[in-house]
Amino acid sequence: MLPNEILRITNISKEYRMDGVEFRALSDVSLTIRKGEFVAIMGPSGSGKSTLMHIIGCLDKPTEGAVFIEEHKISMASEKQLAAIRNTHIGFVFQQFNLLRRTTALANVVLPLVYAKIPAKERLERAKNMLTDVGLSDKMENFPSQLSGGQQQRVAIARALVTNPTIVLADEPTGNLDSKSGAEILNLLEKLNKNGRTIVVVTHDEHVASHAKRIILIADGKILSDKKL
Ligand SMILES: Nc1ncnc2c1ncn2[C@@H]1O[C@H](COP(=O)(O)OP(=O)(O)OP(=O)(O)O)[C@@H](O)[C@H]1O
Ligand SMILES: [Mg+2]
Repeated sequence: MLPNEILRITNISKEYRMDGVEFRALSDVSLTIRKGEFVAIMGPSGSGKSTLMHIIGCLDKPTEGAVFIEEHKISMASEKQLAAIRNTHIGFVFQQFNLLRRTTALANVVLPLVYAKIPAKERLERAKNMLTDVGLSDKMENFPSQLSGGQQQRVAIARALVTNPTIVLADEPTGNLDSKSGAEILNLLEKLNKNGRTIVVVTHDEHVASHAKRIILIADGKILSDKKL
């Protein structure tokens, strides 16, 4: 990979097998993402966007093809190595926030640092700073049920960023939010990108996509177009 590239996938395909029937969710997808890019992935429901995000995010392996993240070749990695690569390189933000319900905002953000074996004092400090950055300094002790949807998503973004990942992946991060909370999340992602963070976001929303610098259109598991804005 070139020095400014952080992710490269080559000739990826993904087949799901159900009751002996094969379904090809991605076919022959190749893609390179460089440091500091803000990429939106768009396409109809069922076109393979989440499948692609899961492969980029090392949550799933492709049936064929290769995935490189910085110096790592993912197809060669064991489950344990994959988990370690996820923890150090990937920040994931999901549509349904995926916060632990019985755990405070602060403890949710601390958790990835526990897995990363960061000392207790440092992880508390980093988690607090991160929550402050997303505007939640007064909500650290709240449980998810005591937060609005937009606030929960900001906790999820703080959790995704606290490990200082190479790349932030967000799958419909504003899908469950009203337009005002959605706009807050969008501003936050834009600010992160201005500070040099690499961001890939899946969205149905033209408005969200208009903030990106590059739009990749997917249909039927293939890249239809890939345009810089
Ligand atoms: N675990 C699975 N087993 C079988 N088929 C699956 C599985 N996961 C996804 N699929 C199929 O793969 C295709 C792509 O799914 P994917 O979730 O990637 O779509 P998407 O573009 O994210 O759609 P949406 O916009 O609705 O979220 C769909 O037809 C889906 O039914
Ligand atoms: Mg999806």
